[in-house]
Amino acid sequence: MKLEQTFMNFMLLHQESHKRSYNFLVLLEAIVTAAKYIEHYYHTGALKNLMGEAGIKNVQGENVMKMDDIANAIVINYLKQSNQVIHAISEEEPDPIPLNEDGGRYFIYFDPLDGSSNIKHNLPVGFMFGICKRNLDGPEDGRLRAGKEYRAAGIFLIPTGVFTLALADTGVFRFHSDETMTFVRPERIVFPDDDKTWELSFNTSNRKTFSEKVQRFIDEHEPRYAFRYMGALAGDFHRLLTNGGLFMYPAIVNHPKPEKNRPQGKLRLLYEANVAAFIAREAGGAAINEKGEDILDLRPQNPHQRTALYVGCKPLVETMRAQLR
Ligand code: AHG
Ligand code: MN
Ligand code: MN
Repeated sequence: MKLEQTFMNFMLLHQESHKRSYNFLVLLEAIVTAAKYIEHYYHTGALKNLMGEAGIKNVQGENVMKMDDIANAIVINYLKQSNQVIHAISEEEPDPIPLNEDGGRYFIYFDPLDGSSNIKHNLPVGFMFGICKRNLDGPEDGRLRAGKEYRAAGIFLIPTGVFTLALADTGVFRFHSDETMTFVRPERIVFPDDDKTWELSFNTSNRKTFSEKVQRFIDEHEPRYAFRYMGALAGDFHRLLTNGGLFMYPAIVNHPKPEKNRPQGKLRLLYEANVAAFIAREAGGAAINEKGEDILDLRPQNPHQRTALYVGCKPLVETMRAQLR
């Protein structure tokens, strides 16, 4: 019989060794509980007719799936119950969601279900989040935090049952869900240095819509690396963390229908790009936008702002940065 160390025990020891509060554990417990319920509904969704569209559009003008709604409601419920969160920002809600404005200690930014186009196929989706802390030294103005101010960021891969968590200045750890749906067996994750396993991940059908600089980068690098893309950042980035390489969602600037250009990129800064960028930093990698600026330095202007994203192993990100500048 082999009994594994649990995620909660790992976190408890981490907080104690860094002389940090237990509030963070209460918050993480709520997040893990939410992830388990999302996982449950995702597993059983096809049988319960939950995999279709909800029939409404979200603040981003995208079709909301029933599972997007369900996952969002689950996360908000458990965050509220935890009492630890001042306000939350969700992909599925136009405005910040007030939860415990006076007593809360954290801000959380989340995408309850990333990779919605995979839902109807039961393929991997994710629950992604970033956590920031209240200013404990003076008045809290509630401003949106830049990625470098996150204290933690994580991704649950659903329905695979793998949880990746990055802790500020500490590193990245991966946990697996066991038979009792307990996350166990912490494993430290760093990007591989050796480029033998590296991959390129982007939506190849967009290739001709990228800037010439980005297209040149692809031309130069594609002979050496395999392409992999599942259409869910949570899944693509999960794979990239293990194998190394570069994930990108560049700005769309050369679309044959100019109204379809996306000079700001597609992915959302607070709960997609920053989550990947923060995890990448803690795993020894880097992330930049279309101007070659560090994603984690960007000062958010609004909760749902988009950004182009290049994230992965440093040598590739730095080559791309040089190309973009
Ligand atoms: P969401 O399902 O939360 O709206 O996010 C979808 C995002 C992201 O997960 C993925 O990397 C990207 O959209 C895929 O976009 P394309 O279909 O344009 O490749
Ligand atoms: Mn998403
Ligand atoms: Mn989503």
